[in-house]
Amino acid sequence: MLRFGIIGAGVIGGVHARTLARLPGRAALVAVAGHGPDRARALAAEHGCDWHATARELLARPDLDAVCVCVPSGLHAEVGEAALRAGKHVLVEKPLEVGLEAADRLLAAARSTGLTLGVVLQHRFDPAARFLYDSVRAGALGGLTSAHAEVAWWRSQGYYDSGQWRGTGRLDGGGAVMNQGVHTLDLLQWVMGEAVEVTAHTALLAHRGIDVEDTAAAVIRFDGGALATVLATTAAYPGRTARLAVHGDRGSAVLDDDRMAWFHTRADGDSGDPYGAYGAGDRSADLPLRYEDLRDPTGLPAAPHRDLLADFCEAVEEGRPPLVSGEEARRSLALTLALYASARTGRPVRPDRPGAP
Ligand SMILES: NC(=O)c1ccc[n+]([C@@H]2O[C@H](COP(=O)([O-])OP(=O)(O)OC[C@H]3O[C@@H](n4cnc5c(N)ncnc54)[C@H](O)[C@@H]3O)[C@@H](O)[C@H]2O)c1
Repeated sequence: MLRFGIIGAGVIGGVHARTLARLPGRAALVAVAGHGPDRARALAAEHGCDWHATARELLARPDLDAVCVCVPSGLHAEVGEAALRAGKHVLVEKPLEVGLEAADRLLAAARSTGLTLGVVLQHRFDPAARFLYDSVRAGALGGLTSAHAEVAWWRSQGYYDSGQWRGTGRLDGGGAVMNQGVHTLDLLQWVMGEAVEVTAHTALLAHRGIDVEDTAAAVIRFDGGALATVLATTAAYPGRTARLAVHGDRGSAVLDDDRMAWFHTRADGDSGDPYGAYGAGDRSADLPLRYEDLRDPTGLPAAPHRDLLADFCEAVEEGRPPLVSGEEARRSLALTLALYASARTGRPVRPDRPGAP
């Protein structure tokens, strides 16, 4: 049984508190801390736990094994590192950080303390995403050739105005890609393999007073040659589902939110029709891949957070890395930052060498 503290008592801090309550016997919420007393006190009252007005007070408690870091993205390294130095395992919300230097400080702190660092990219736990990942690794789609990742969402001006950190370069680190698109971008790279080059454009079209993009379009080249297009926006009213289409020379698949919307692979020994099968042969309906429809009051699907937290607890107990480790989450951060660097410079950028000409 891991005893948890939560730092950051905002929207996602509440989700973590409710998720911990879904893991009786494995995890218990002991205390929450905010930036000032108000929200922390209210969240503690809801969950019958202690509260602190600062992260420092919470981290001084000897009765905590692990901490969920639910503060604005550009504070993840600072707060996460303090928690590791205080001897707590750390589960940090997505994105890992907003810059690679800070992210690397956090990874180094985890390595030097020997404590567990996990990152909440919870959609890697969606059964359909895992099935797609396993199918690709088993060669069911053949050689991968292309993909399309699309997060066409809507966020009102009121959303950006609802927190001083939202839409700021320093604390949000980016807009439609860094904050909203990161889950699908992470799934894209998880399934397709290492991204080696990205070319992108970004724009701010339907919001004001923010210093990040609300629309981005990119082309990515992967190790092995496959190509992908990416669209991420918070300026598509009323917002559509997040989609990831993956194509190979033996099969294709489409994830639509957490659902497998299309899955067709060519059987062994079947040379296939020279013109393909187009709409025929979709097997997605035969795959029992949907999560139960468990919703958090915020509207977020609750099952992925629950399964990610359960994996984090198990990883601590077993002394193994969690499924989404700090190193794994660094890959999607590096890809996001390369996309921004390309939009800024008008040149293709390599995620592993963002500064290279
Ligand atoms: N995994 C997901 O799907 C998901 C969904 C939403 C948000 N998030 C992530 O969660 C993080 C927080 O987002 P949010 O929507 O909850 O924001 P929010 O503004 O609702 O909450 C952030 C809270 O952190 C508090 N805070 C700021 N600095 C602090 C500090 N030093 N110590 C303690 N508390 C501090 C703020 O007062 C605020 O209450 C972001 O990194 C965001 O990307 C992830």
